[in-house]
Amino acid sequence: MSKPPINLVLLGPPGAGKGAQSQLLQKRFDLTQLSTGDMLRAIVDEGGDLGQQVKQIMDAGDLIPDRIMDRVIGRGIDRLAHSGDGLILDGFPRTRAQAEGLDHILGARNLRLSAVIALKVDEAAIIDRIVGRFTCVKCHEGYHDKYKRPKVKGVCDVCGGTKFIRRSDDNPHTVKQRLARYREVTLEILPYYAERGLLSTVNGMGTIEEVHQRVADVLSPIVAEQAAQAAG
Ligand code: AP5
Ligand code: MG
Repeated sequence: MSKPPINLVLLGPPGAGKGAQSQLLQKRFDLTQLSTGDMLRAIVDEGGDLGQQVKQIMDAGDLIPDRIMDRVIGRGIDRLAHSGDGLILDGFPRTRAQAEGLDHILGARNLRLSAVIALKVDEAAIIDRIVGRFTCVKCHEGYHDKYKRPKVKGVCDVCGGTKFIRRSDDNPHTVKQRLARYREVTLEILPYYAERGLLSTVNGMGTIEEVHQRVADVLSPIVAEQAAQAAG
């Protein structure tokens, strides 16, 4: 019998490794990543009034209003839920209202959260990771100048693309603001999940593979428990 899908929220400050860990978790646990940052960048690329408004807020390092985010995430979940794979919510929720909204969105689709993982990373590492980050334009695979270089210089390991991009909000001023928002607003939702026994805090320091192993150690028993429950 196939395993029931797990639905995971991945939390952490900018540069914590949410994207890098999502890439590894997708392959290991048959999950599909839903990154609200990536979805918002796609809205910016489409242009128009909404795209301009979103770009301004992202470049300032502020949070997009909850009413916009509810629509964005609802559409994203609908697009993916049909596949039967589990979800990694990368960067959502970031406010208490979004956390409550997520419960409604999942409940209405007969889905539920299996786990919430918060990555904990030192501030110096955050800056170092963000300053060196670049991404393949074609397939969005993430890289780093020091920690994750393409195997062949200038060529994406995954799709062979040769164009890479750096994010306009990856500058020291905007990162400071993004970090401040995480501390002031997003950290407040941790107790919401801790009270329900869903929250695990994982040390996000060390190599990408070391952090992945810690995250996998948290998820593996949850996957096994869900499979046992489904088997009756
Ligand atoms: P988003 O794109 O989600 O940005 P973020 O939360 O600031 O997080 P990042 O993507 O910068 O970091 P990450 O944790 O994914 O790190 P990564 O794995 O890339 O959101 C952008 C903006 O959109 C927000 O500021 C906000 O305006 C808006 N937004 C998004 N969601 C929203 C919401 N729900 N509500 C309202 N507004 C919202 O790693 C960074 C680099 O380090 C990479 O190069 C990677 O290769 C490297 N790296 C990763 N792990 C390691 C490691 N262990 N060791 C060494 N290098 C590592
Ligand atoms: Mg990211």
